[in-house]
Amino acid sequence: MTHVYALFRCFWHSEESFYGKEVKARKMDDDDDDIPQLSSHTLAALQEFYLEQQQREGMKTSQGFNQYSIGSIEEDWQLSQFWYSDETASCLAKEAVVAAGEGGRIACVSAPSVYQKLKELDGKDFSVCILEYDRRFSVYGEEFIFYDYNQPLNLPENLLPHSFDIVIADPPYLSEECLQKTAETIKYLTKGKILLCTGAIMEEQAAKHLGVKMCKFIPKHLRNLANEFRCYVNYASGLD
Ligand SMILES: C[S@@+](CC[C@H](N)C(=O)[O-])C[C@H]1O[C@@H](n2cnc3c(N)ncnc32)[C@H](O)[C@@H]1O
Repeated sequence: MTHVYALFRCFWHSEESFYGKEVKARKMDDDDDDIPQLSSHTLAALQEFYLEQQQREGMKTSQGFNQYSIGSIEEDWQLSQFWYSDETASCLAKEAVVAAGEGGRIACVSAPSVYQKLKELDGKDFSVCILEYDRRFSVYGEEFIFYDYNQPLNLPENLLPHSFDIVIADPPYLSEECLQKTAETIKYLTKGKILLCTGAIMEEQAAKHLGVKMCKFIPKHLRNLANEFRCYVNYASGLD
C-alpha cells in the first residue's frame, strides 16, 4: 500500500492528468488521521497505470525494443528534463551531421535526445558522444560521459580540447550562471561550431558568452513548456 500512497501523493493536489489519464483523488473522511482513502475510480486508474508501467518495462527488455527511441528513458522533471519532439530531435541531429561534415565528431551536452536521434540515424560517417548528468544514460556505454555543468572542465583526460566539429548543448536551467558554465565546456570541446538550445529569454547572455545568434527554427518538445525555446548558432546553419 505504501507505493500506492506515494503515487497518490504525487497528484493529490494537482488533480492533473497522470500518464494521460484524468485521475481525481478525493479524501473520503476528513477525520481519518490524515490517511488518504482512494475512491474505486482512483484505485482502478492506479491499477491501470501499474499495468501499463509493467507493459512498458516488458517492452524495454523484449528484443524489438529500440534503445535509442526518445522517451525510452523517461523525463525526470527534478533534473529539468524536457525531451524534444521526434521531429525537432531529427532536425537538430541532421543539422549536426551536416555541420560536422564527413567523418565529423559531434558532442551532445545535456541534449540526450539529439544523441539518441543521431544513433537512430545510424550513420557510419560521424561519431558522437553524450555528456550527461543523468547516469541512466550510461546504458549507452563508452559514448556516455558523466557531466556536471557545475564543474565545467572536470572532463575525462581523453576528451581533448577542440576535438569536436560541432557541440550541441541544451543547459538544464535558464540562468546566466548555468549558461556561463556550460559555455566553458562548449568552448573547450568545440573546434568552432556551436548549436545551443535554450530559452528565448537567454538571447543576450547566449551572444555574450558564446557569440551565437538566434535562428528562425523553433524547437518543439514532447510536452508544451511555459517558456519559449529557441536555437542559437555561430555558423551558417540550415536552421534559418
Ligand atoms: C532542458 S533538458 C535538455 C534536454 C533536451 N531538450 C533533449 O531533449 O535532449 C536539460 C538536460 O540537462 C541535464 N542536466 C540536469 N542537471 C544537470 C547538471 N547538473 N549538469 C549537466 N546537465 C544536467 C538533464 O538531465 C537534461 O538532459
